[in-house]
Parts: sequence; C-alpha cells; structure tokens
Amino acid sequence: MANLISPEGKTFLVTGGASGIGKQCIETFLREGAKGIAILDVQVAVGQELAKQLNKTYPNKVIFIKCDVGDEKEVSEAFEKVLGHFKQLDVVMNNAGIMVDSPTGWRKACDVNWQGLVSCTLKGLKHMRKDEGGVGGTIINVSSIAALYKFRFLPIYNGSKMAVLHFSQSLAGGPFYEKTGIRILTVCFGATETALLQGLEDRTLDDIGAKEILVVNSQKHQKVESAAAGVLKMFKEGANGSIWLSIDDKPAKDITPVIESGFKEFEKAFL
Ligand SMILES: NC(=O)c1ccc[n+]([C@@H]2O[C@H](COP(=O)([O-])OP(=O)(O)OC[C@H]3O[C@@H](n4cnc5c(N)ncnc54)[C@H](O)[C@@H]3O)[C@@H](O)[C@H]2O)c1
Repeated sequence: MANLISPEGKTFLVTGGASGIGKQCIETFLREGAKGIAILDVQVAVGQELAKQLNKTYPNKVIFIKCDVGDEKEVSEAFEKVLGHFKQLDVVMNNAGIMVDSPTGWRKACDVNWQGLVSCTLKGLKHMRKDEGGVGGTIINVSSIAALYKFRFLPIYNGSKMAVLHFSQSLAGGPFYEKTGIRILTVCFGATETALLQGLEDRTLDDIGAKEILVVNSQKHQKVESAAAGVLKMFKEGANGSIWLSIDDKPAKDITPVIESGFKEFEKAFL
C-alpha cells in the first residue's frame, strides 16, 4: 500500500459535482477535512442549493460556479474564479460526464467526457506543477467499466472513457511525478445508482443498442456511497498513474497491474 494521503486541509475542484457520484464525493471530502471545494456544474439551481446546504455544516468551504466543461471559455473563466477565491488548488476531480450516443448528442458528449476532461486536467497541471512554481497535487480522472469491456450499446461513450484511461496513463508516465509533484489517478466505476443510467434507451446510437441496454441496465447497480468510498480509498492510497475499479459495492481495487500486463502483451507481440 502506498503512503496514505488525506483530503484534510486540501482544496478541491470537482466537475459535475452538483449531483450523483460527484456530489457524494464532495460530501466525503468535506467529512474528511477538506479546506474548500469548488463545484463546477451546468445545473445552476441544484448546484447553488447544494453549496448552500453544505455551507451550513461546513461554513464558507463550498462555492458553486456554473460551468459547462465542454465550453473552453467557461472552463477558463471558472478556473480563474476558483483560483481567485481559494488562491490555491490541490485536487482537480474530472467527474462531469454524460452518456449520449444519439445522432444529435454524441458530439457534445465527446466535448464533455473527453475534451472537457483534458482541458481541466491541463489547467490543473499548469497551476499545481512544481516545475512551474506550484506545490504539486492530484488529478482524479473518472473513467468507467466501459473502458474495460467491449459493450456494443454505447460505442461513443465507451471510446471517450477509454480515451480518459489512456490519456491519464500516458500523462502519468516517465519522470512526470518527480518533476511535477502531481499524481494522476483514474477510477473506473461499474454501474452505479445515478441519473446517468436512467432513460438510456433514448440515448443509444441505434435500435440494436437500445435493446441491449435494457438487458444490461436491469442488472444490479452499486450505491453512490460505495463509489465515493472507492474514490476516497484511491485518493489515500493511490500511486501516480494507478487505475482503480469500484464496482458491485466492493472496496475499490487497484487494477494497475492488470492493465500493465495487457500493454506488456502488446509490446511482446508487436514491438
Ligand atoms: N453511474 C454510473 O453507472 C457510472 C459508471 C461509470 C462511470 N460513471 C461516470 O461517473 C461520472 C459521474 O456520473 P454520475 O453517474 O454521477 O452521473 P450524474 O448524471 O448523476 O452526474 C453527472 C453530473 O455532471 C453534470 N454535468 C453534465 N454535463 C456537464 C457539463 N457539460 N459540464 C459540467 N457538468 C456537467 C451533471 O449536471 C451532473 O451533476 C461520469 O463521468 C460518468 O461517466 C458513472
């Protein structure tokens, strides 16, 4: 097990934090002593109300900023506001995500799930990296079980989550941690009880996907509490570049060796 790192005294930025897994993670970080949390989300009323409620228990610790992570201008402005308010950021959790493979929605989904995550990662890095005057920190990137299995029904969503996994792995490699002082952690959630999985049959690429998803979606989903507990465990124990699986309400598991062994097989076969 790696050194334990506590959320205590740290300042977090969580995208998509107004509801679902992000919201549960925010509550967990606060309970563990986080110094401050910025919630970035498109749900303005919900996000503002959450910040108001959390500030009753944790006075002046939480701010809400309306931000569509798929919009570069909004992301830049939101980071400026967060840094203006807290002055320092220690953790960026790229959690915002949508599951839309439909003909009219897939491009936006790519902007949110993939390009938004890259943008927030790069902005977090710029602020936190030790080799450019920062004090180090952690980036948490949210991937999915969809990156580990070949599901037929949501190919565009699956591709974005595989991109998240591979981006995080590639970024974290080599002397990255020694130079920047930044850990890149990736979590793959299994099906979890949130709004994301509701009404999915209307958001698939085609009818084949819609039929398949009804079967898969009828299986058991884990609780958001389990997903957040998994993120906390990963935050405390995770080494730079590690990948964690949080599924079926079980304790999160470091699956980096499994992923690494897959890449080693490719190397053996082709390089
Ligand atoms: N629920 C699952 O089964 C599951 C499984 C694997 C991975 N994930 C991933 O976990 C993350 C959280 O999902 P969730 O299940 O809590 O879903 P959710 O729909 O409950 O929450 C997602 C949050 O992201 C926000 N959001 C949506 N578009 C946004 C945008 N453009 N900019 C900023 N915020 C935006 C939403 O308003 C919402 O608050 C996502 O990245 C999702 O892909 C979820």
